[in-house]
Amino acid sequence: MKLRKLVALSAGLLLLLIPMVALAGGGAEEEREEEGLEIVTWWTAGGEAEALSALIDLYREQYPDVQVMNSTVAGGGGSQARGVLASRMVGGNPPDTFQVHGGAGIIGTWVVDDFMEPVTHILEDNDWMDVFPQDVIDILSYEGEIYSIPVNIHRSNVMWYNMAIFEENDLNPPETLDEFFEVAEVLQDRGITPLALGGTDGWEPTHLLESVLLAELGADGYRGLWNGNTAWDGDDVKAALGTFVDMLDYINADQSAITNIDAAEYVAEGEAAMTVMGDWVHGFYLAIGLTPGEDYGWIPTPGTGGNFIMLTDTFGLPKDAPNPNNVEKWLTVVASREGQDTFNPIKGSISARTDADRDKYDVYLLSAMDDFERDSIVPSVAHGAAAEVGWMSRLNDAMTFIVEDKDIEAAAAEMQSLADQYAR
Ligand code: GAL
Repeated sequence: MKLRKLVALSAGLLLLLIPMVALAGGGAEEEREEEGLEIVTWWTAGGEAEALSALIDLYREQYPDVQVMNSTVAGGGGSQARGVLASRMVGGNPPDTFQVHGGAGIIGTWVVDDFMEPVTHILEDNDWMDVFPQDVIDILSYEGEIYSIPVNIHRSNVMWYNMAIFEENDLNPPETLDEFFEVAEVLQDRGITPLALGGTDGWEPTHLLESVLLAELGADGYRGLWNGNTAWDGDDVKAALGTFVDMLDYINADQSAITNIDAAEYVAEGEAAMTVMGDWVHGFYLAIGLTPGEDYGWIPTPGTGGNFIMLTDTFGLPKDAPNPNNVEKWLTVVASREGQDTFNPIKGSISARTDADRDKYDVYLLSAMDDFERDSIVPSVAHGAAAEVGWMSRLNDAMTFIVEDKDIEAAAAEMQSLADQYAR
């Protein structure tokens, strides 16, 4: 019997430490026919639902006898899925496999506490260790083993904009924060909401903040936020929080009532000019029939050109998964070149492999691929790459407060105390 603990749940202020007695391990279990494969994700939005279906179809082609159960839990950024998953994992009823952010998101939450099986052999047995960038391998690894297989690389620091609005108003998309405020002022004067921002899933303000932090601190300063080298209560972070608060003068009035996808839709429909969001927005725009470079444009979030805030969606193998052999097959499809090149062009992300078939990717995704190779890469906190779930969710709470009270000093103090607790 093992003693396990659940370190963090997704929503709210919770940081739970629940000691659990694990269910008996399967040593004496008999070989049995595995019939199913249950996959938990939060991919329900336009683009991502279709991308997942395409990947499942590819799996079914190869393994027609396996009954795949596609268990999605709606809620952008995993706002609901993580809680559902946590209770299943702790209750000894894990799904076969689940979507989880690569980086601190899985390591700090599930690996350290021994909920996951290593899956290094999937890459080794197929000679794929060298086709994934070492940086990606590193963030999936703990004590020499890889614990989940990446299906993609998403970019967080993208500003999507309505090209018609910019043309009609004779404006250029802003490359710097100063330019952002100039453009926003003009648009506001003309009765157009400059910036669409969501809030229902609790992480959208953090998503915008991570870009602003990067713009104010640069890549090294930003990296230092997660290992304790950059003070959260120093002048630079306070300046970033000040910039964030200034941006709130230019957002939609219903921020707390809309999702990140609603915000993207505002831009598509011309109800707002810009939104800062990950490139699943590209997948969403494709799914609703828009054309990149005609209906919508993109640019790195002002002040972050030359930098790429990355996150990766991955799948792992929980201990006690009911159908581990079927999971191994799934992870092999996920890791394969064909799997990645089937999923990502629909999802709006790029392959996590270095040998993607570029012919399958569109103009936006090719630009993202080129930037990923060339730019300074830093991890997203809003999507589990930079900090473990407990830190991420409490940062989200601090950001929800600052949107309400605009109290920079209080936010900086709270964020410093989180860093004191979590940074390593
Ligand atoms: C991210 C996830 C993306 C996308 C997004 C919106 O956390 O990594 O794949 O699903 O949330 O829900």
